[in-house]
Order: sequence, then structure tokens, then C-alpha cells
Amino acid sequence: MIETADAEPEYDDSAIRFLEALWGEGYLSPGGPDEVDRVVEGVSLKGKTILDIGCGAGGITLHLVATHGAARATGFDLERPVIGTARRGAIRQGLEDRVSFVQAPPGPLPFTDASFDVVFSKDALLHVPDKNALFAEIFRVLKPGGVFAASNWMIGHDGEPSPEMKAYVAAEELSFTMASPARYAEAMRRAGFTDITVRDRNPWYREVAREELSRLKGPLYAQAAAAVGAAYVDKNIRTWEAMQKVLDSGEHRPTHLRGWKPVG
Ligand SMILES: C[S@@+](CC[C@H](N)C(=O)[O-])C[C@H]1O[C@@H](n2cnc3c(N)ncnc32)[C@H](O)[C@@H]1O
Repeated sequence: MIETADAEPEYDDSAIRFLEALWGEGYLSPGGPDEVDRVVEGVSLKGKTILDIGCGAGGITLHLVATHGAARATGFDLERPVIGTARRGAIRQGLEDRVSFVQAPPGPLPFTDASFDVVFSKDALLHVPDKNALFAEIFRVLKPGGVFAASNWMIGHDGEPSPEMKAYVAAEELSFTMASPARYAEAMRRAGFTDITVRDRNPWYREVAREELSRLKGPLYAQAAAAVGAAYVDKNIRTWEAMQKVLDSGEHRPTHLRGWKPVG
């Protein structure tokens, strides 16, 4: 296990409690297990070893083992609070023998070459500034014949973000370094991935986000405010309102990515 001194976490205990109230225990991104299942649709995980990059509170890493029959999964994240939550979840679900959670600073992935059959990630890669270095690392830790399958929040173009997009990213107060689907696909190609596919999830998430906002303003408000305080919920309602504009314009582009590491 690797432990390091950390900077102030972006996903602190309040963020974890708030996002879990909205998206479910162990989930810091939208869609729950159904959306995870769509990311890995058609890929058999049975008996495979999986790396989950940016695993957050660990709900997805646990789901990949408990429901998809992976032999072993390793969740990797930079931040201590999410890794602590994830480890507690593994114990609660009795999965500690098949799932481990690793915390390490940004930079090269702390895993040896060709150590995973599958690299998975959900809505975390937008935090990594150097996309070429990221995919070189993902390619390195995958076994030949292995697959990368991810969901990620992207921007629809590589030009200057619109004022609405800048306002949304500022409202998040998170280290987003968004890039376009074309930019991600290019970084994957450069790393050596083949059979790259890109699937636009904006039409799905823009409707889901609308429901999230109305739940936050309505039936979920009291529960979320009890968990993190009304001011925190009010701030997030403003963030969701800013996000809805760029989802509706199509500039905010949640996207699925997939690619293979050639066998030879
Ligand atoms: C929106 S959360 C998603 C967490 C989880 N994948 C999920 O869907 O519930 C983004 C996660 O990415 C992590 N993260 C940020 N930068 C990272 C990096 N360079 N490498 C790995 N994880 C990172 C954050 O700490 C956070 O836990």
C-alpha cells in the first residue's frame, strides 16, 4: 500500500457525503451501476484483473467485482478521504480479499508493466492535465490484448470555452482540465491503442442532470442539507444550474471511450 502526505483534498468528507446523497453509496459520479454496466457493455470481466483509475469512494470498483465477477480489482486515487471511504465499503461488503485501494500522488501509475487485463475509469480523467502521458501510462500497465473502457466528462471542442462553460467550471471549484473527444482519441492512438470507440453521453446526462437538479431543489433538499448544511447544497444547486446550460448547449460532453492494446 502506498500512502503519501496530500494536498488539501478536493473530494473531502462533505463532498463525499453530498455526492453519495445524490448518486448513491460509493458513487461520486452519475448513473449508478446501470451507467457503469453500459461503459463495460460487451466486455467480459469474469476472472479478469481490473484497475479503476480515480476510483473515488469505491462503489464502482466493488460493483465490478461483486456483479461482473472480476477476479481482482484495484482502485487507485490521489486523495485520502475517498480511499478511506472505499476501504470501509470493501470491508462492509466482505470484498477485502479481492479488492484493494491504492493512494498515490499524480504522475506515473504505481503499478508494474502489463499488470491488468482491464483499465476502467469513470468521470475522473478530466482531472489529469497531460492526456498523452496519461494514456502512455494506461497502455503500459495493460496486458497485451487488454482493454481500456471509461466514461469521462469532456468539452465538445478544442477552442476557447464559452463564457457559460467558464462559469460552470469556475462554479465547480475543482481542477477540471477538460479536452474534446477527438483530443482523447488522438492521445489514445498516440499511446498505441487500436479499435478506439467514442460514444457521446450528452443526450443521456442532460436529462438525468435535469432530474438531479429538481431532486436537489425538492425531495432531496432536506436530506442533503442535514448531511452537509444548507449553504453547501445551495452552492451546488447554483453549480447544477450552470452545468445544465452547457449540457443543453452540447458543450459539456460526457463521453464513453474504449480502446484495445494489441496482442503483439
Ligand atoms: C468525480 S470523482 C469520480 C470517482 C469515481 N470514479 C466515481 O465515478 O464514483 C473523480 C475522482 O478522480 C480522482 N482524481 C483526480 N485526479 C486524479 C488523478 N490524477 N489520478 C487518479 N485519480 C484522480 C479524484 O480524487 C476523485 O476521487
